[in-house]
Formats: sequence, C-alpha cells, structure tokens
Amino acid sequence: MMSDTAFQAFHADCCTQVDTALQQHLPDPTQAPRRLHQAMQYAVLGKGKRIRPLIVYAAGYAVGAERNRLHDPSCAVELIHAFSLVHDDLPAMDDDDLRRGKPTCHKQFDEATAILAGDALLSLAYQVLVEASWPAPQVKLTMLQNLLVASGAQGLVVGQALDIEAVGQSIDLPHLEQIHIHKTGLLIRACVRLGVLCAPSASTQAEQHLDRYAKCIGLAFQVQDDVLDVVGDTRNTGKQSGKDAAANKPTYPALLGLQGARTMAQRLVQEALEELTDFDEKADPLRWVARYIVQRQH
Ligand code: IPE
Ligand code: IPE
Ligand code: MG
Ligand code: MG
Ligand code: MG
Repeated sequence: MMSDTAFQAFHADCCTQVDTALQQHLPDPTQAPRRLHQAMQYAVLGKGKRIRPLIVYAAGYAVGAERNRLHDPSCAVELIHAFSLVHDDLPAMDDDDLRRGKPTCHKQFDEATAILAGDALLSLAYQVLVEASWPAPQVKLTMLQNLLVASGAQGLVVGQALDIEAVGQSIDLPHLEQIHIHKTGLLIRACVRLGVLCAPSASTQAEQHLDRYAKCIGLAFQVQDDVLDVVGDTRNTGKQSGKDAAANKPTYPALLGLQGARTMAQRLVQEALEELTDFDEKADPLRWVARYIVQRQH
C-alpha cells in the first residue's frame, strides 16, 4: 500500500499540474473586462483542495492513462466545480461570506460580477475540453456528454434546486440521498469516468467497478461536507461552520445525528474500497482518495 508521503506527493503533483493548466486557460486579468477576469481568477486559484482533479488523475493512473492526457479533463472539472461554488455562495442561494478562507466572490467583487464569472467559468470548462489537443473527437464527445449530464438539469443544477426547495422541510433519507447524489455526487462520478476515458482501454468489468466506487465516494464526500459543517473549524475549512443548521437545511447529521452520518460516510468508503479489490497497486491513489474523503478536516 502506498505510504502517506507518497500519496501526499501524488496529490501535490496533481495540484501543480492542474493549477498550471488552469492558469493557462483563464483569461488574462490585466485584459478587459478586467473585473470579470479578476473574479474568474479569484474564484478558481487559491486554496481549493483540487479533489476532483485528484480523482481524475487517480482514476487515470489506475487504468494506465498517460499523465499528460489528464491535465485538460482535470482542468475542465475544476472549472465546473469553481462555477458551482461561486453560484452556491450567492445571497439567493446559501448566502455565504467566506470561501477558502477569503471573502466569497460576490463579497470581494459584486453580485453581478460573481454571477457572470460563474457563467463564464462553466463555459470555459467546455471550451477547454473542446479545444484540447487530445483525445480523439469521439472520446471527447463522450467526456463532454458525461460532464454536461453531471453539471446540468440532470445533475448538479437539479441537486441545487432540490437543496433550496428542501430548506425548512422535513425530508426522508432517500430524498436527501437524491439531493446529495445530484448536487455533488455526479460530478465526482464524472471525474472517475473522465480518468478512465483517458486510458486506451479498460475492461467493461473494471469500468463498472470504478463507476460503483465513484458513486460511493461521491455521496460520501457530501456526507463528510455536512459533518464538517457541524464539527469543522472555520480556520481549517475556510468556510463559516454551522451554516446548514442555521439555514434549516436537511443534512445527514440533521437526519441521522452526527455519529450516524459519520458511520454512513465510513460505510460508503468501505463499499468503495471493496469495488477495488481486484485492482493492483495502481489503484492505491484511488484507495487513498476514498479514505481521505472521510478523514479530511477541511
Ligand atoms: C465544496 O467542495 C462543495 C461541495 C460540493 C461539498 P470542496 O470541499 O471540494 O471545495 P474546495 O474546492 O476544496 O474549496
Ligand atoms: C454545495 O453543497 C454543492 C455545490 C456547490 C454544487 P454545499 O452548499 O454544502 O457546499 P458548501 O458547504 O457551501 O461548500
Ligand atoms: Mg449549497
Ligand atoms: Mg453552500
Ligand atoms: Mg456544505
């Protein structure tokens, strides 16, 4: 099994690679319209964990994808994620002032700029992928389709709509699971798929195991996010703790209690790890990611 240090080096390397790609693709903040371009940079660069790019790299590594093919897909996924955070924090959505330890985009700039920066980041994500020198058009189309499904009205956007609709309501576990799978899980699932698509060939069976792995860690990620909203320290998470309860949001800790939510996240990680049983040590980064998702404090 990969050591702590080896995984940290793998993660650090992914961050460097994706940050370089992001910097290359983001519009120049010294060029007009400067305020929009600055807001885009502000929302993307900085202290994000880059967990979605990490998952693309880890999935690609597990199936033997060439590393330099993973940069643009990783970049696209992180841009979609950044868009979702900017809009999620808006006054009409979660109304948050703090993100990654800094004022949220609309606080630092203004609401109109934040809305437009989010829009531009989402479009840029698809542009990055369309303009990438690799993969071949057919594979690119499959990647695009995966990202479009995960980010739109069958994925993240419907998850966010259900999340807002559920404020103050008492909902049951299957309903909450639907919200979390859509708002967060499907984009994470697409990360694994993109990594796999970067490899020349993976068996259908391997693909199915990886997809089930992805489904489990995608949900576990949002369960842990809910847990951290209760127990997390703002200095670590870089966002205001206690917001979910204050806003009367249905969350896993609200429905299951803190311990119940933690147990659920751990169970999902175990299920994810079981899907990797037949994989060799090349799947170690994926194994680490699964554990990291529930052990993280930020
Ligand atoms: C936060 O995502 C929003 C969710 C979908 C739970 P992350 O915890 O990955 O945020 P960053 O990118 O590290 O700031
Ligand atoms: C965010 O869920 C989901 C998306 C951004 C799509 P949360 O609203 O719980 O994320 P945080 O806690 O603000 O990061
Ligand atoms: Mg939200
Ligand atoms: Mg939020
Ligand atoms: Mg949250």
